[in-house]
Amino acid sequence: MCIFARAKTGSEVVRRKRLALWTFALFVAGVVLLPLGSYVYTAVSPAQAAAEKQTNPRANYWRAVRDGNQGYTAVQGKETGVLIQNGGQNWRQARNGPVANIMPWVLAFTVAALALVFLYRGQIKLDRQPSGKTVARYNIAERVLHWYTAILFIILSLTGLSMLFGRAVLIPVLGLQGFSAWATFSITLHNYLGPFFIIGLALMIIWWIKDNIPSSVDWEWFRQGVGGLLAKGKHPPAERFNAGEKIFVFWIGLVVLGIATALSGLYLIGWIGSGLRETMQVADIVHAVAAVFWTSIVIGHIYLGLSTQGALEGMWKGEVSEEWAKQHHDRWYQQAKKG
Ligand code: HEM
Repeated sequence: MCIFARAKTGSEVVRRKRLALWTFALFVAGVVLLPLGSYVYTAVSPAQAAAEKQTNPRANYWRAVRDGNQGYTAVQGKETGVLIQNGGQNWRQARNGPVANIMPWVLAFTVAALALVFLYRGQIKLDRQPSGKTVARYNIAERVLHWYTAILFIILSLTGLSMLFGRAVLIPVLGLQGFSAWATFSITLHNYLGPFFIIGLALMIIWWIKDNIPSSVDWEWFRQGVGGLLAKGKHPPAERFNAGEKIFVFWIGLVVLGIATALSGLYLIGWIGSGLRETMQVADIVHAVAAVFWTSIVIGHIYLGLSTQGALEGMWKGEVSEEWAKQHHDRWYQQAKKG
């Protein structure tokens, strides 16, 4: 039944209607305003205000994790308790930034420089045709050592460069799956062959160090147009190895860059050193940079070995023509003749 049914007078009806209206209005206001009350409470809550003044304890926890603090883990091994090592970010930026972007230019510059040398000089020919008389230059052990090390160098260089520049150069050619298979093969081959190559490197240094000691003759070789390479027709004096071979192939190549590449490589496969992530990151950058510069020198070495008429015979058959010996290594030829 309607609540107004028993109303006797009009004024009572109006009063009841007003009452109902206010009741409804208060109800709506209560529904809207009461939930907001918690905000008022929160804003003025002394406990909340005090808590807000304090640093978030979780923030300190994660700061410690980001700072590389050691936590507890049941997993055994080096640094297993360190969840985040910040140096990894710096390493990634260095490797994918300057190293990956600048190193290809080192190789490109080498190839461009050699192309200019070829345009200017062409093949480095013998002045006199070989008469057939030869001089012994490399014994069998030296030749086996040279080609053993050279073949391993080429394999390591191709697999190493594939890992360094493969994402940019090989993915467009091989596709993601093809590159993944090649990269996995490359790293395996690289890691297994590296130590065998280091044996060759060490033997080369020990074997040829006596022939690569700098002497006054070497200065003269450089003075006369880098061994006549830039001054056509000149044949500056040279001992068993000329000044260019001594400085670039032996001392900078084998000794400085070779040893840097070898030690950093042994570090990366865990044969030497602490194996900590931070030093691994340094070793990785040293390895990549030294190996690329060394590859540049070797490209130059291969170019000169192939473009100098008669040079390869020495490293292949062990003997060189007398004409070649007199033209390129006169001091050594005189010594060899004396016996
Ligand atoms: C296809 C690749 C290579 C070719 C065609 C080549 C060619 C030659 C030739 C012709 C010589 C004799 C030069 C002379 O009698 O004065 C020589 C010497 C030499 N090669 Fe190679 N080589 C190659 C790769 C390598 C590699 C990869 C290395 C080192 C990692 C290397 C290190 C040496 C050294 C140390 C010498 C002795 C001369 C010196 O001490 O400078 N070669 N090579």
